[in-house]
Amino acid sequence: MTFPAPRVGIRIAGTGSAIPERTLSNADLAGIMDTSDEWITQRTGIRTRHIIDPERGENFLTLAAQALGQALKDARLAPTDLDFLVFATMCQDMTCPPGFSRLATLAGATGVGGFDLVAACSGWVFGANTAAAYIRSGLARTVAVVGCDTLSQFCEYNTHGRAVAVLFGDAAGAAIFRATDDPSKGLLAHSMHSDASNWECLYVPRHERDVPPALRDQDVVINTIQMSGKSVFRFAVGTFPALIAETLDKAGLNPDDVDHYVCHQSNARILEAARERFGLPSEKLFINIDKYGNSSAGSVPLCFDELRRAGRVKDGQRVMFVAFGGGLTWGSSLWQL
Ligand code: ACO
Repeated sequence: MTFPAPRVGIRIAGTGSAIPERTLSNADLAGIMDTSDEWITQRTGIRTRHIIDPERGENFLTLAAQALGQALKDARLAPTDLDFLVFATMCQDMTCPPGFSRLATLAGATGVGGFDLVAACSGWVFGANTAAAYIRSGLARTVAVVGCDTLSQFCEYNTHGRAVAVLFGDAAGAAIFRATDDPSKGLLAHSMHSDASNWECLYVPRHERDVPPALRDQDVVINTIQMSGKSVFRFAVGTFPALIAETLDKAGLNPDDVDHYVCHQSNARILEAARERFGLPSEKLFINIDKYGNSSAGSVPLCFDELRRAGRVKDGQRVMFVAFGGGLTWGSSLWQL
């Protein structure tokens, strides 16, 4: 489905991000499990990652609030200027209260409406599309979308869990979307998809009964990420280019017409494959997985914030956000800045 022609323009007024202080390098991991810097860098491109320290009170909310605060400051707005808050995370520690309301209060935006959006690593991209829909329909004028996951809490830092633990880092990213009188700015095209027919290739069981019967003999540790790396890799290598092509097609654009492809950082090899398929120069497809690992819903807004802070994102450019994740879910969001 294509989005109706814009009547209200939308601009991305500010961005922010946050990472925990504590780092966990490949060498650190090699000291606590049977792995090596060579194995990790060759297969994933990851060199180090940041993880929260719960002992110091860090969690998914504190990181998210930091990123949101930065984005508001960047947009020169007060927390109370927000009309709506979308919180993309899969790390809620309680079923109730919702994470977004706790985040809003922590960030000084008590009173704002919103919701938690659970679409694993695709969460922030789904949220950006939701912000566009709210603003274009007139339901809101200023919407914050925060993506934050602290998946270190679902990793087993030992040899049994090494295939997963080496991949993930914790991070948050945020953007403020605002209505503008300039109708040329806003969402040009988007895609959002899901398919749960193979959900067990990436999941976090809460109870023994969540583990599919066929996998119960595999020594599954409850409350840790279970992943069939090869299945997810195959899915992502095929999905990323297809998603980019689908989105360009909806917008009637060629690959070169987009200035930045800001993609979920799951594996440098997956990103390189997409870049080669469209013949994109490396400066158009940003990669920072070496520093942060896979930070799930935090990864796309963290990349975008880094690009903006480096002065590489200019008014008038086009940027495509692309992500895939557990669910399985996958989505894109193409913007005229
Ligand atoms: N260190 C050393 N050896 C390891 C490690 C490790 N950290 N992890 C696994 N191995 C071993 C395995 O035990 C296996 O040994 P064996 O051959 O003796 O059985 C061997 O290395 C190869 O393991 P594979 O799983 O086949 O390795 P593969 O080449 O497939 O790479 C990887 C694994 C990097 C996980 C890859 O499959 C991948 O990147 N998949 C995509 C993962 C992903 O993106 N997930 C998240 C996406 S969605 C989201 O972000 C929530």
